[in-house]
Amino acid sequence: MGRAGHVGWVAAGLVLGAGACYCIYKLTRGQRQGGRGPRLRPSPSAEDLTDGSYDDILNVDQLQKLLYLLESTDDPIIIERALVTLGNNAAFSANQIIIRELGGIPIIGSKINNPYLSIKEKALNALNNLSVNVENQVKIKVYINQVCKDVLSGPLDSAVQLAGLRLLTNMTVTNDHQHMLNSYIPDLFRVLLTGNGSTKVQVLKLLVNLSENPAMAEGLLGAQVDSSFLSLFERHVAKEILLRVLTLLQNINNCCKKEGCLTIQSTFPEGSLFFLLYGEECAQKMRALVDHHDADVKEKVNGWLSEPSRRRQESLPSDSCKHFSPTREVKMPHSHETTESSKTADQR
Ligand SMILES: *[C@@H]1O[C@H](CO)[C@@H](O)[C@H](O)[C@H]1NC(C)=O
Ligand SMILES: *[C@@H]1O[C@H](CO)[C@@H](O)[C@H](O)[C@H]1NC(C)=O
Ligand SMILES: *[C@@H]1O[C@H](CO)[C@@H](O)[C@H](O)[C@H]1NC(C)=O
Ligand SMILES: *[C@@H]1O[C@H](CO)[C@@H](O)[C@H](O)[C@H]1NC(C)=O
Repeated sequence: MGRAGHVGWVAAGLVLGAGACYCIYKLTRGQRQGGRGPRLRPSPSAEDLTDGSYDDILNVDQLQKLLYLLESTDDPIIIERALVTLGNNAAFSANQIIIRELGGIPIIGSKINNPYLSIKEKALNALNNLSVNVENQVKIKVYINQVCKDVLSGPLDSAVQLAGLRLLTNMTVTNDHQHMLNSYIPDLFRVLLTGNGSTKVQVLKLLVNLSENPAMAEGLLGAQVDSSFLSLFERHVAKEILLRVLTLLQNINNCCKKEGCLTIQSTFPEGSLFFLLYGEECAQKMRALVDHHDADVKEKVNGWLSEPSRRRQESLPSDSCKHFSPTREVKMPHSHETTESSKTADQR
């Protein structure tokens, strides 16, 4: 789909959908305007939608008309504006319920497959606002796979990618749907390492949410992660990134300490996050951060360095949590410190 094709479509939409555009325009503004100068006459249905019985928030009838319009039009401009209007209305909790009850979620959700990136983005934003309602999440979860694919294959740092990441973050505020992201964890780390600051922060919000759930620990620790991940543990890294990375580490480690995590029946391959976090290079990076100027960073770093379970690797083979340890023949970063290790195992 070339740019010229897009522009042609847009132009056609402007002419053919002029009446409807006018109505959406008014809906978006959420206000009645006085008759300043000549303007396009809205079609009767548009007039219905804009006939002055509302202020900023649409009523059930208006939302229904808007959803019908969204379902029936092919005009990309109308689709986009309808999505923005619905998204804005979905900021209100009563409307989140009404839109679901009107069957609006599949209508909006179907637009995330639209070839126009701006429509995709607006659909993701609208779903994001709708996802604040937990019952809506049950209906939105069917799009998680598609959103993951879009987020991970879409243009890096794009508005669509950020919108998708925000939606995934809000869909993982509870533990209910987090398991659906399991197979995408390595790709999320790839986006984390390649994206710019805004993307990094958003991916980290998502990963931090996942890391609070012990059921996700295996997927996180087993993910293949490039060793450049450790370059996030450096003094020059922005605080909003560094603190989140440290929180991620802390959460994962806490999960390791919880019983649920210790029964994991699997092993972590070389090149996994497990190896990076419990390796010597990570420990060195952390020691270099102990005199960081920020008190929050310092606190987390000291917490990590004084954490006995940090050295769990040494204690694993003789320990109840041996499943946590790679059983294949691999070089372990701390394998020489064996005396410490039996003590650590006892302390747990
Ligand atoms: C979503 O809700 C927020 C407030 O929670 C609002 O600022 C935003 O405009 C709404 N609309 C979209 C499309 O995200
Ligand atoms: C997403 O989740 C955050 C944190 O729970 C919440 O503050 C926000 O309102 C939610 N919705 C949007 C559209 O960001
Ligand atoms: C990341 O890239 C996007 C798109 O190019 C840009 O809008 C945004 O400002 C960038 N963020 C940072 C922190 O550089
Ligand atoms: C997920 O992250 C948001 C903010 O990013 C936070 O408000 C929320 O408590 C987190 N939820 C879980 C379960 O981690």
